[in-house]
Amino acid sequence: MVTNSDSASDSADNHEPTVSPNSANSSNSSASSTSANASAPVIVRNMEIDDLAPAFHLGESLFTSDLYPYLYRTWEEWEVIGFYNTDPEYCLVAEIDGHLAGFILGTVISKASWNYGYITWLGVSHDFQRRGVAGKLFDKLVERMIEEGVRFMLLDTDPANTAAVKFFTSKGFGNTRQHVYLSLNLSKHEYYGRIISYERDKAERANPWRSRRRHT
Ligand SMILES: CC(C)(COP(=O)(O)OP(=O)(O)OC[C@H]1O[C@@H](n2cnc3c(N)ncnc32)[C@H](O)[C@@H]1OP(=O)(O)O)[C@@H](O)C(=O)NCCC(=O)NCCS
Repeated sequence: MVTNSDSASDSADNHEPTVSPNSANSSNSSASSTSANASAPVIVRNMEIDDLAPAFHLGESLFTSDLYPYLYRTWEEWEVIGFYNTDPEYCLVAEIDGHLAGFILGTVISKASWNYGYITWLGVSHDFQRRGVAGKLFDKLVERMIEEGVRFMLLDTDPANTAAVKFFTSKGFGNTRQHVYLSLNLSKHEYYGRIISYERDKAERANPWRSRRRHT
């Protein structure tokens, strides 16, 4: 079993935040997070209801369309809300000096003979990267998953995401398989584009006043 003796482990194990989640809210802007005490400890705790919006916005600042188009497209409010709803024990945040420094969202996939731990989202604020924040979040999550019988971890990330690849490699991940992401803009597709135009025309016919207003 993984044992951490640092404050990260203690606060998450007790399921009690040692710092109020509200204090993390105030850290939503990166301007305020730069004022964090550089030597303050990293505290990992359960995600709380007041963390949902700050965690979402932190993700928005990290999963940008220029760097990570796939992550950008799939990151939305329901990722945080959904995991908080279905897997609250695998939703953790890290705080430094009262500032939201990072988050991790995961789930357990249970098969007949094997439980897989899946890391779905991991993000650390630019202000706090390379300080071991992701490592602490990851260790705590894996510790939790081991307690639930997980013996195998899975995740996927863009091969061009050097930071993530190096991070997960440093945590022992290997056996890399390339995964191809494909995308299709339906509006530009010959057949589906016609369906989209048809549906748009239908909506405009059903509510001409509203669609005229939208187009002015
Ligand atoms: C990937 C990410 C979570 C790492 O967070 P972090 O808190 O900076 O990582 P840690 O400080 O725990 O790093 C541990 C080790 O990982 C490796 N690592 C982490 N970031 C790295 C980077 N940018 N370049 C090279 N190696 C890196 C290093 O080996 C590092 O150890 P070291 O600092 O002693 O050299 C962070 O860069 C991030 O949020 N990126 C954007 C979001 C993202 O891509 N998330 C993953 C996909 S969902």
